[in-house]
Amino acid sequence: MAVNLKGRHFLTLMDFTPEEIRYMLDLAHDLKAKKRAGVYNYGLKGKSVVLLFEKTSTRTRCAFEVACIEEGAQVTFLDSKSSQMGKKESLEDTAKVLGRFYDGIEYRGYDQKVVEQLAEHAGVPVWNGLTDVDHPTQILADLLTIEEHIAKPLNKVKVVFCGDIRNNMAYAWMYGCAKMGMHFVAYGPEELAKDVDASVLERAREVAKATGATIEVSSDKACLKGADVLYTDIWASMGEEDQIPERVRMLTPFRVNMEMIEETENPDVIFMHCLPSFHDMETTMAKTQMDLGYDIREVTDEVFRSRFSKVFDEAENRMHTIKAVIVATIG
Ligand code: CP
Ligand code: NVA
Repeated sequence: MAVNLKGRHFLTLMDFTPEEIRYMLDLAHDLKAKKRAGVYNYGLKGKSVVLLFEKTSTRTRCAFEVACIEEGAQVTFLDSKSSQMGKKESLEDTAKVLGRFYDGIEYRGYDQKVVEQLAEHAGVPVWNGLTDVDHPTQILADLLTIEEHIAKPLNKVKVVFCGDIRNNMAYAWMYGCAKMGMHFVAYGPEELAKDVDASVLERAREVAKATGATIEVSSDKACLKGADVLYTDIWASMGEEDQIPERVRMLTPFRVNMEMIEETENPDVIFMHCLPSFHDMETTMAKTQMDLGYDIREVTDEVFRSRFSKVFDEAENRMHTIKAVIVATIG
């Protein structure tokens, strides 16, 4: 049956079938090729989109804005300081008002329930631009990047996520790999393994039964062997900065370095990262924390800048995949 995603929300990949995810990836490949050829559909001419950000962003915000502009849609950006949402106006009322003005609503914030509540009341598609427990647009970009760099179907690809294995990216990966029949390993310290949300693992493993995926949690470096992708993320996500000392203590042995690349025994392994990344001392946060005695770099500069690293292709793909999500759901 032909896939039709018009009117659908994009809150988590768990809401989509593998065929629907395939459809969005194919659309993203197509839109990327068209942009390269200078061909624009302007399929969203006359449409308007609002972007709600309760946390900061570079890639996600710009990806949504550029995607909309390139497809002919108008964009409004609101951050937590410049709207009434949640402070003077309930989520329900906010969703109802914005749904009258706009054809689609992007939301980035803390609680997944907020994006779900917006979706319940907006009457137009709502897209998840990151919450504390998921980051589905990032996974679409990552899958696109894997397809561009690894000459294997997704269901033959092994992804090892190193570091904070209980964060939004780790969970988003569990869902993405489960849906696409992939081999996923969350590689981190035993101390953090016990904090991995059991319901996330259970839901991912339930899907995996049908797709042939494998979803593992491991503290044994032997899991690196055969990896096609080494992935990492910052050790303290937005809103968790007070946990930096504890995370540095636990995660320093999991900093991605050349030894870990070698442990994969795969000369074609690629390194990926959702970004932003601490890989050098060129940020105020890395410097401030270093002055306090905490080296927060989750990957060495050597790996980040190596031939294995595909992080900027991945960042570019945020725009192509987000454009595909918008076009598929409201175009
Ligand atoms: N990867 C990602 O979501 O980046 P931003 O926080 O810059 O949007
Ligand atoms: N885990 C990170 C992802 C940033 C894209 C965070 O939530 O801050």
